[in-house]
Amino acid sequence: MSNAAFDQWAAAHRARVEAALIRWSPASELSSGSLLEAMRYSATGGGKRLRALLAYASAEAIGASVELADHAAVAVEMIHTYSLIHDDLPCMDNDDLRRGKPTNHVTFGVATAMLAGDALQPLAFAVLLGAPAAASGVVAATHELADASGAYGMAGGQAIDLANVGRAMTLAALEEMHAMKTGAMFEAAIVIPALLAEEDETTLAALAIYAQKIGLTFQVVDDVLDATADSATLGKTAGKDAANDKPTFVSLMGILAAKSYAQRLTDEAISALPPNLDTSRLADLARAMATRSA
Ligand code: IPE
Ligand code: IPE
Ligand code: MG
Ligand code: MG
Ligand code: MG
Repeated sequence: MSNAAFDQWAAAHRARVEAALIRWSPASELSSGSLLEAMRYSATGGGKRLRALLAYASAEAIGASVELADHAAVAVEMIHTYSLIHDDLPCMDNDDLRRGKPTNHVTFGVATAMLAGDALQPLAFAVLLGAPAAASGVVAATHELADASGAYGMAGGQAIDLANVGRAMTLAALEEMHAMKTGAMFEAAIVIPALLAEEDETTLAALAIYAQKIGLTFQVVDDVLDATADSATLGKTAGKDAANDKPTFVSLMGILAAKSYAQRLTDEAISALPPNLDTSRLADLARAMATRSA
């Protein structure tokens, strides 16, 4: 089902985050030219920008400014980009295609790629610290980004992913891994604007449940697409999970069950949205994420 108003909104906000990423990526070449080039290579000019769109939609729902949302969107996209650069390294998933281009380490070498990821991480925090919000809101949002990207969030989930190569996982363990490696950053994208704007606990809790459901949906669909789509459509190497013997929703429950699970989670996510806010964009995004083909 096409939704022209949503498509237009998404295109405008993708362009908006792209401009902000360019603006806030370091420009001076100085002595570390290739590092800065490597950071820009991955941070700009590609990606679906789903986390950014979620940050903008969350800000709209709570009536926060788009300028506040820019800081949340860029911070989360920078952490996400760093996670992708490292995810693709030979010591992790060993991938040579990302966002339709050669991966960062293929273009700049492993050491520079590692440093580009390293440097994007503090840059993301610096961007978030510059958000136009009360200091207490900025502190809470910064804590959220730290938790979501750290040992109990994305990085921890990536460690569990690597530790389970070639092993069978229970559904509960797989969900926990996905919640950490992918869900936590989705939750950060949605909750950070609300933390910056110092929303009440009830709203924060409802947004967090929505976020956890769509975060899981997103990775279920990522696993399905890895098994069913082609590399040209995905802009990254298809079939990589099976080739690397990764435990995924597809390996655990099969493609059909994984697809219907994604649909059920999406419905639950939409039901969790707080009724007192205008959450239509968040609902649109949940549907778009479940039905995406790339
Ligand atoms: C890929 O994320 C990594 C996962 C968490 C599965 P995306 O599919 O959102 O990547 P981009 O940003 O659109 O390239
Ligand atoms: C990566 O998961 C999640 C991250 C934290 C980057 P995947 O390894 O499944 O991501 P893709 O499929 O390479 O994008
Ligand atoms: Mg991986
Ligand atoms: Mg990977
Ligand atoms: Mg994947």
